[in-house]
Amino acid sequence: MKIMVVGTGYVGLVTGTCLADLGNSVTCIDSNPDKLAVLKTCKSPFYEPGLDERLKRNVDAGRLNFSESLKDSFSETGVFFNAVGTPPMESGESDLSYVYAVVNEFFKTYKELGCTDFKVLITKSTVPVGTGSEIEAIRNSHGITEDQVAILSNPEFLREGTAIYDFFHPDRIVIGSSSEKALDIVQELYGPLYRNETPIVRTSIQTSELSKYASNAFLATKISFINEMANLCELTGADVSDISKIMGMDGRIGKYFLHPGPGYGGSCFPKDTKALVYLAKQLGYNLNVVAAVEDVNESQKKRVMSHVLDYFDNDIAGKTFALLGISFKPNTDDVREASSLTIIDLLLKQGAIVKAFDPEVKSLAQFEDNQNFSIVSDSYEAAELSDAIILVTEWNTFRELDLERLKSSMNKPSLFFDLRNVYSPEKLRDAGFETYVIGRKLLSSSQKITQNG
Ligand code: UGA
Repeated sequence: MKIMVVGTGYVGLVTGTCLADLGNSVTCIDSNPDKLAVLKTCKSPFYEPGLDERLKRNVDAGRLNFSESLKDSFSETGVFFNAVGTPPMESGESDLSYVYAVVNEFFKTYKELGCTDFKVLITKSTVPVGTGSEIEAIRNSHGITEDQVAILSNPEFLREGTAIYDFFHPDRIVIGSSSEKALDIVQELYGPLYRNETPIVRTSIQTSELSKYASNAFLATKISFINEMANLCELTGADVSDISKIMGMDGRIGKYFLHPGPGYGGSCFPKDTKALVYLAKQLGYNLNVVAAVEDVNESQKKRVMSHVLDYFDNDIAGKTFALLGISFKPNTDDVREASSLTIIDLLLKQGAIVKAFDPEVKSLAQFEDNQNFSIVSDSYEAAELSDAIILVTEWNTFRELDLERLKSSMNKPSLFFDLRNVYSPEKLRDAGFETYVIGRKLLSSSQKITQNG
């Protein structure tokens, strides 16, 4: 099939590249010339494991190309994916201006080129319920019918860092439209995955749109829930890693997304939970559970740091912290809404010195001018002459650290705050650290840990 994907963020670029891999002819559109210049060298503008190789393979095979304009090969294309960003606004509402700019451009081009053939305009971006109906209304206002252009919602469930694997092994594919013809075409497009027994759910456009928010909000709920259990473990002496294991053994609960940490981040959960709460409020309904999930997430970032501050009696001025991991999760260079940012900000504001290391993040514009902040080239350099290590993101490289070596160059006493439950408290203690492992071990039983941190 001849496909266009508008927007080369991680959703659009991964989708476009993987669809090309399935044998389709794909043009990826982006209005940013700098991004296009990078893409034309067969490099991804962001870090996603395995993407560069696939980009090159498909460009070399002539199945994938890049353009600035929707007009190029518009006439010959039957299927269009709108995958531009929907960033959050102050109110929590999603900014849909990029989505609608593409929609308007699409209909304008359809008319200008005098097209009459059937095309499917697919919304891949995460958009609030009602957006598809709004796009249909825009189509109708251009005098274009559903027999000419059908609107379809196809939310994506890819995770950053494992996006390629997720594309080829989705748990489900959701397609929503009032046009059976469009549903058939898109079902066929995903045929190779479908034939691998991936369930395809055909539904209404509204259900499809909401299913994406419902899924992300539920996953975020699991995380905030286990974070609260971790906090309770710290107050009771229970062990959250066993709690997660025991809960996860119940098939009704499921074992995934029960890892405690310093709060979820990224471009999706924080944005999507806020947008869902906002949407419900607009309709006169309070989504109490999701609102609480957000609150817990915000306080979690501060709560984990309260342990650090407590240890130093709230005086960390001049102390040096080695921060391991900056990205919001492993295998990405994305720092959007990363808990590390809140942590670094808090440490610097209190006069501490921060030496951070991340395998992929090599600069942080917002702290660039602070002379107490630096990004160093490995974990051992970060630990040198530091008072405490704070493990923020569970990159694999932090799972096999030479603990003795780390400790040997640190100030005494050497502290290790493991915010991701990577190490057992015993292992850290045996290596000579004073430790805090989230939900498992406090530095000292005499420390005062309050309900709200
Ligand atoms: C998330 C969803 O998992 C994808 O299905 C969805 O397609 C995507 O959002 C999106 O809407 O585009 P992503 O944000 O890439 O994917 O990353 P996740 O792996 O879900 O992690 C999100 C955050 O939750 C990270 O900060 C991670 O550290 C945190 N997390 C995750 C935990 O703290 N505990 C867990 O058990 C799992």
